[in-house]
Amino acid sequence: MLRMVDIIEKKRDGEILSKEEIEFFVTGYTDGSIPDYQASAFLMAIYFQKMTAEEQGYLTMAMAESGDQIDLSAIEGVKVDKHSTGGVGDTTTLILAPLVAACGVPVAKMSGRGLGHTGGTLDKLEAIEGFHVEISTEQFIQQVNDLKIAVIGQSGNLTPADKKLYALRDVTATVDSIPLIASSIMSKKLAAGADAIVLDVKTGAGAFMKTLEDSQQLADAMMAIGNEVGRTTSAVISDMSQPLGCAIGNALEVKEAIDTLQGKGPEDLTELCLVLGSKMLLAANKADTEESARAQLQEVIDDGEALRLFGAFIQAQGGNEEIITNPNLLPQAKYQIDVVAKQSGYISGMDADEVGVAAMLLGAGRATKEDVIDLAVGIMLKKKIGDYVEKGEPLAVLYANKEQVDDSINLMQNHIYISAEKVASPTLIHSL
Ligand code: URA
Ligand code: CA
Repeated sequence: MLRMVDIIEKKRDGEILSKEEIEFFVTGYTDGSIPDYQASAFLMAIYFQKMTAEEQGYLTMAMAESGDQIDLSAIEGVKVDKHSTGGVGDTTTLILAPLVAACGVPVAKMSGRGLGHTGGTLDKLEAIEGFHVEISTEQFIQQVNDLKIAVIGQSGNLTPADKKLYALRDVTATVDSIPLIASSIMSKKLAAGADAIVLDVKTGAGAFMKTLEDSQQLADAMMAIGNEVGRTTSAVISDMSQPLGCAIGNALEVKEAIDTLQGKGPEDLTELCLVLGSKMLLAANKADTEESARAQLQEVIDDGEALRLFGAFIQAQGGNEEIITNPNLLPQAKYQIDVVAKQSGYISGMDADEVGVAAMLLGAGRATKEDVIDLAVGIMLKKKIGDYVEKGEPLAVLYANKEQVDDSINLMQNHIYISAEKVASPTLIHSL
C-alpha cells in the first residue's frame, strides 16, 4: 500500500517517482486525505530535487484529470491553444484568436479573469458592450464549428488539484520551481481540450521569469511535458523588459487589437502575433513552412478578413460589433493626463512590472479576486526603449477616472530610464 511519507522520502532522496505514486499524491491532496503538511514537504522536496520529463508528464496528467475536462472532439480540425506566461499589456490573445481563425484554425478558447495589472482576456472582451462568455458547452462547440471562433468562461472546476496546490505553493516558497510551474500551466491547457499548444514564454522585468536562462528552462520543460503526453507543443521566448505594444488597460487593449488586426498596430505586438500565429498555423497543419504561414496571416490582415471575423465573433456572443469601426463606443475614461519626461535623452530601459502597477493603481487590474476593474482606464505609452524624448514631452498618457493620479505618474517617471546615449531596442524574439 502506498503511504505519502514514503513518497516524500523517495523524492527527498532524489529518486524517481512512479505514475502510481504521483497519482496517489494528486488524488489524495485534492480529496483532502493527504494533509497540507505532507503536501508542503513534498513540494519542497520537488523544489530541490526537481522532476524528470516523465514525472512531470504524470503530474500534469493527474492534475488535468482532477476536475472537469473539456471534450472538443466534436470540433473539426486540430484545436491549437496559445498560452502566454504573463506580462504587462499583453494583447496577443485578442488579436491571435480572430487572426488564426480567419486562416481556418478552429479557436475554442477557454479564458479566465485572474489577478494582475490588467484584467484577463475575459475582462478585456467584456469592455465590449453586451459581450458575454456565459455560454453552454453546446453553444460554444456549435459556434466554433460555424464561425471558427468562440470564447467561454473558465469552468469553476477546472484542475482543482492545481488550484489547491498553487495556493499552497504561494505560502510555502515553492512557486518558482520549474517542474511545478510547467505542470501547473500545462495541466490547464490539457483540461481545456487542446490538441496542440503554442507557448509564449515571456522574459525580462515584466515577466514571471526574469532571465533568459530561466525562461529557456521553463519553455523546455513545458515542451517536454507536451511531447510526453502526446500534444504537439512549440514555444517562443519573447521580450517583456518593456510592455508589449503601447496599450495597458482593458478597453485600450481592445482598441489596440482592432488597430493591429487592420495592420496599424505597434510594431512589436504585430511581429509577435505573426510569429505566434505562424506557429499556430503550423501546429494546425494549415501551413508547411513559417513563410507560407506568415503570408496567410498577412493576407487576412490586408484583405480585412481578420477584422471582419472579430466583428462576427463579437456579434455572435452578444456584443456591439460596431466597435470595430467606431472604437469610441468602448468605455472612455474621463481624464487624459500626460506623464512627461523630466529630462531629454533616449529611453534606456523601464521596469515593466512597475509600469503595470501604475496601470493597476488607476483601476485597470485586480489585486484581489473581489476587486472591481475599471475597464476604461489605463496607460498609452508614447515612448519605448530606444526612442528619443525631449524634456517635458509625454512619455505616456494616463487614461483615468480620477484627477488625483500622482502615484501612477511618480511610478512611471521613476521607472522609465533616460540616458544621453542612444540605446538599441530590445530583441523581441529570442531563438530557441
Ligand atoms: N502560472 C500558472 O498557471 N502556474 C504557475 O505555477 C505559475 C504561473
Ligand atoms: Ca499592449
